[in-house]
Amino acid sequence: MNVLLIGSGGREHALALALSRSPDLTRLFTAPGNPGIAGLAACVTLDVTDSAAVIAFCRNERIGFVVVGPEAPLVAGLVDDLEAAGIAAFGPSKAAAQLEGSKGFTKDLCARYSIPTAAYARFCDKDAALAYLERQGAPIVVKADGLAAGKGVTVAMTLAEARDAIEACFAGQFGAAGAEVVIEAYLDGEEASFFALSDGVNALPLASAQDHKRAFDGDQGPNTGGMGAYSPAPVMTEAMTKRVMAEIIRPTVAGMARDGHPFKGVLFAGLMITAKGPELIEYNVRFGDPETQVMMLRLQSDLLALLRASRDGRLAGLAAEWSDDAALTVVMAAKGYPGDYRKGSEICGLDAAARLPGVTLFHAGTKADGGRILSNGGRVINVTALGENVAEAQARAYAAVDAINWPDGFCRRDIGWRAVARGKA
Ligand code: AMP
Ligand code: GLY
Repeated sequence: MNVLLIGSGGREHALALALSRSPDLTRLFTAPGNPGIAGLAACVTLDVTDSAAVIAFCRNERIGFVVVGPEAPLVAGLVDDLEAAGIAAFGPSKAAAQLEGSKGFTKDLCARYSIPTAAYARFCDKDAALAYLERQGAPIVVKADGLAAGKGVTVAMTLAEARDAIEACFAGQFGAAGAEVVIEAYLDGEEASFFALSDGVNALPLASAQDHKRAFDGDQGPNTGGMGAYSPAPVMTEAMTKRVMAEIIRPTVAGMARDGHPFKGVLFAGLMITAKGPELIEYNVRFGDPETQVMMLRLQSDLLALLRASRDGRLAGLAAEWSDDAALTVVMAAKGYPGDYRKGSEICGLDAAARLPGVTLFHAGTKADGGRILSNGGRVINVTALGENVAEAQARAYAAVDAINWPDGFCRRDIGWRAVARGKA
């Protein structure tokens, strides 16, 4: 079967690697792809906001299955358009993608189906939001309702910070995403990401990971798309995984079906493991970046078969197999990210780094220039390694980071610190 993978990040490079191992794959295409993915797939230029163009391409190339990586085309309804044209696609419909597209939608679903999440209120009016804030006190969390690339959230330890965040949202700092604001209670605990596939009725647990959202060591600095991750997350024990499936994932799948928009695709639950148990922070309706980079190195099952089973409603009775090894990825980003940064600086030493034991490099924001690789985005290279435990994966990944010569880049030096500290305890 020919497959089209949509996206261009490290996540898509990792998905391409896993898809390329499927015995059912004939040809893999990717739009737009990147220089790393180009080693595994034919990169094509397609405007993914133009569904008719994507459909025409699929017909021409006899694409049997489309895998959509990023959230924007899902929220825009690309899967609905493909399916309406008779082209099978992995991922939720536009209606089901509201789980990521609108925080308020998800909070209301949680309330309806008793899914544990922080207490919250929604506001379209600034004065009402400010008044609510004064009643609740700090710490408290202020979120722009819509898609803001992970940057619309302020965890305010003081009322002054919370007030500033509300003013910024209503002043249009996050565009339309900030026209509505969700204010929610602060949850104290350890964060974990958990992934499950759904076929609209059944849910199949995948794996857990822990991301590092802040730009700098010691979880300091601004929030980013993610500066590194490892899998599995030690806090997600077997017992905790069972609780998350029973208390959060299955009620979500059942609730979405009951509400008339069954969810097919991957549910990426951002969790806070509190003293009381797991609480849902948010849902994403796609694979995580950089969580996918670590998960795909551990996945032993056929990814294409699992994604097709999600689309076809055939997940019942299936299971995904994972290596017991740990995987860890370090994101190398352009200096200045998540703020302004330069593009076009050369990255050297990638081949030597990729030959180190246990190491796989995934490209994110790169471009090829003859034989050279240049930076072309904020998050640029994901240096990923497998090891017997997180400490070994970490040592291997940083050995590879040190083999890469990119003066214009930076990375965190402490990815995995929490799991390594736990291992020593
Ligand atoms: P979100 O975009 O909703 O995942 O939020 C971004 C980050 O803000 C999360 O990864 C958490 O670290 C933090 N966060 C969000 N909601 C809460 C909450 N209710 N309590 C504590 N931290 C939160
Ligand atoms: N790493 C977080 C995300 O993919 O949203």
